[in-house]
Amino acid sequence: MELLNGKQTSLEIQEGLKNQVEKIVSEGKRAPHLAAVLVGDDGASKTYVGAKVKACERVGFNSTEVILPAETSQDELIKRIEELNQDDEVDGFIVQLPLPDHIDVEAITNAIKPSKDVDGFHLINVGKLMKGQPTFVAATPLGILELMKHYNIDTEGKNCVIVGRSDIVGTPLSVLMSRKKYPGNATVTLCHTRTNNLKEMTLQADILVGAVGSPNYISGDMVKEGAVVVDVGITRVPDETKKSGFRLVGDIEFEGASAKASYITPVPGGVGPMTIAALLLNTMHAYNRDFYP
Ligand code: GUN
Repeated sequence: MELLNGKQTSLEIQEGLKNQVEKIVSEGKRAPHLAAVLVGDDGASKTYVGAKVKACERVGFNSTEVILPAETSQDELIKRIEELNQDDEVDGFIVQLPLPDHIDVEAITNAIKPSKDVDGFHLINVGKLMKGQPTFVAATPLGILELMKHYNIDTEGKNCVIVGRSDIVGTPLSVLMSRKKYPGNATVTLCHTRTNNLKEMTLQADILVGAVGSPNYISGDMVKEGAVVVDVGITRVPDETKKSGFRLVGDIEFEGASAKASYITPVPGGVGPMTIAALLLNTMHAYNRDFYP
């Protein structure tokens, strides 16, 4: 069994981006700029946005954190988005999810200018993904593809079973893994909470992805011998022995799954850091106007 070390792979990708930024800046041009909007004070969201800003600093990107109170109205938030849409110094930006209940997530994600939508959540970018056109791919599925590429994971003709059908992870990943290019060409099965006999499905998986957000949802006996196991889950579970008061637990029971797997992502240190690298890659694409010249 080999670990799919997302932390190290993410840092390597960031090193590559840092070299590109140094070249850009040495030519007298400005560095790429990512902005992140955070509404309210959800602890996990704060941590994620903090990690994104820190990564920008590491690679030499400019970054802006827009922090708004939980009471911010939808109209006010859209006004801030319009400002970022029009700011020529900002190449890409994200609005961290989840948002407070009084805000309509779809209205917000579709207010972001598609050419700056480095999260790839806008309807136009989701549509382009479905059609196989170049676009911003959401950070988690893109991070998983980059991790597979880094470890030369063979995907062609493999059975890829994805557990979880969210519109930001499971569903786009199912499209990407079935595309006619590497990493893809897999036979994809998208499982979810209404799947009958989940174990029967997961035992067929050469590549198994857990993306339900439920700790240890998939036990070791549900993993096929030799499978490539990718765990997207990072649920905070109360743990008094930790200084933070919690520990991070994946969707796939690590001990049992690692005894069977050929490759497996740890939690933390697997998919999580790769999402950061993916967001930075998308910001570089936005800066270079690769998808919206
Ligand atoms: N919340 C959890 N994952 C994400 C993500 O990829 N982007 C944003 N904006 N919010 C998130």
